[in-house]
Amino acid sequence: MPRKAKAALCRAHNTPVVVESVAVDPPKRGEVTVKLGACGVCHSDLSAINGTIALPLPLVLGHEGAGVVEEVGDEVSGLAPGDHVVFSFIYMCGKCRFCAAGRPVLCLEQGKALTTPLEGTTRVHDARGEPLGIFSGCGAMAEYATVSAENLIKIDPKVPLDCAALVGCGVTTGVGAVFNTARVEPGSSVAVFGCGGVGLSVIQGAHIAGAERIIAIDTLQPKLDMAKKFGATDTVLAKKEDDLAKILKKATAGGPDYAFECVGSGALAGAAYRAIRRGGLAVVVGVAKPDDSTSVRTMTLPFEEKTLTGSYFGSCVPRVDFPRMLALYSAGRLKLEELITRRYPIEQAPQAFADLEAGRNARGVIVFGP
Ligand SMILES: NC(=O)c1ccc[n+]([C@@H]2O[C@H](COP(=O)([O-])OP(=O)(O)OC[C@H]3O[C@@H](n4cnc5c(N)ncnc54)[C@H](O)[C@@H]3O)[C@@H](O)[C@H]2O)c1
Ligand SMILES: [Zn+2]
Ligand SMILES: [Zn+2]
Repeated sequence: MPRKAKAALCRAHNTPVVVESVAVDPPKRGEVTVKLGACGVCHSDLSAINGTIALPLPLVLGHEGAGVVEEVGDEVSGLAPGDHVVFSFIYMCGKCRFCAAGRPVLCLEQGKALTTPLEGTTRVHDARGEPLGIFSGCGAMAEYATVSAENLIKIDPKVPLDCAALVGCGVTTGVGAVFNTARVEPGSSVAVFGCGGVGLSVIQGAHIAGAERIIAIDTLQPKLDMAKKFGATDTVLAKKEDDLAKILKKATAGGPDYAFECVGSGALAGAAYRAIRRGGLAVVVGVAKPDDSTSVRTMTLPFEEKTLTGSYFGSCVPRVDFPRMLALYSAGRLKLEELITRRYPIEQAPQAFADLEAGRNARGVIVFGP
């Protein structure tokens, strides 16, 4: 029997999120139904709404989710009803050359499960019986979600689900970009463009990795105040006309060792590349519009040996990195509770998105009733 659930939907690009009552089908082979405890509101959900991430609509939003397993389909091993899980927003087949090489964020099969479980048909229907896709193969902004078992990672049930949810995207993306993609060295200098849930997680990760200077950049002063709480040593309130590369070079006597772009802008990716010192590393984490681009002065490549790269989902291996993040949290070294500025019931999802757009939250989290 399908389960009734309230869900936050995007029905058309650039229109407000709507909350509707939907029906979530039970799991088929290789699938699991989860009763959601919490789902973070990430900028990537907003990008699905404004078309920056162009997926077919309508969609149940949400990919930063955590909950409790309700029902498992045939041929699912390692998960049972009652288990606590965090959603992983990239489907990982475990068999392709990238999965086999320990780089599952590059999985060749992920494109097959962007808006449905891997099997390819929808498990969610609206009140009229029309099918609804699920964002990033998750659709976690709903009371129930049925997803491929590979999209779920079992976690320690002692971790509160609202904190655990953040590990499903923002925290692993940010901390992973520092630990896995850049491998930031102790004593180094780091610049971070954009202090949302992702940028603040880069700042936390850099702090844990022992960076000595962490320069936070944002256009909003309250975000810079938050950044200080997560380990930023310096802040730059960015204005449109600022030459940020010049400001950072001056502040660090030649440029930071690392720069992380956590906004989604080619102009800032270029500024991050220009800012870093010779031999430095610039990492683009933000997701820019499809037609956005950046350029590098070609001559700097041989003469300055700088690297410009990207980081998807913190280059993580969810089965390794989620427990690692939660262990850091349990040891009191990774702040998760402090990242949650505001909790919203699912009915207030439109407000949660308005607050994200206005930059009011470190992270807003949708929380579901018992
Ligand atoms: N690579 C990945 O795997 C991955 C995963 C999750 C999110 N993302 C992307 O990371 C980006 C950040 O996500 P988030 O959830 O933290 O978003 P957010 O909206 O919470 O934060 C963005 C921050 O950037 C600031 N900002 C905006 N314009 C700026 C500018 N010109 N200069 C400096 N700061 C500026 C905003 O004030 C805000 O604080 C988004 O593009 C999102 O899609 C990427
Ligand atoms: Zn996200
Ligand atoms: Zn794979």
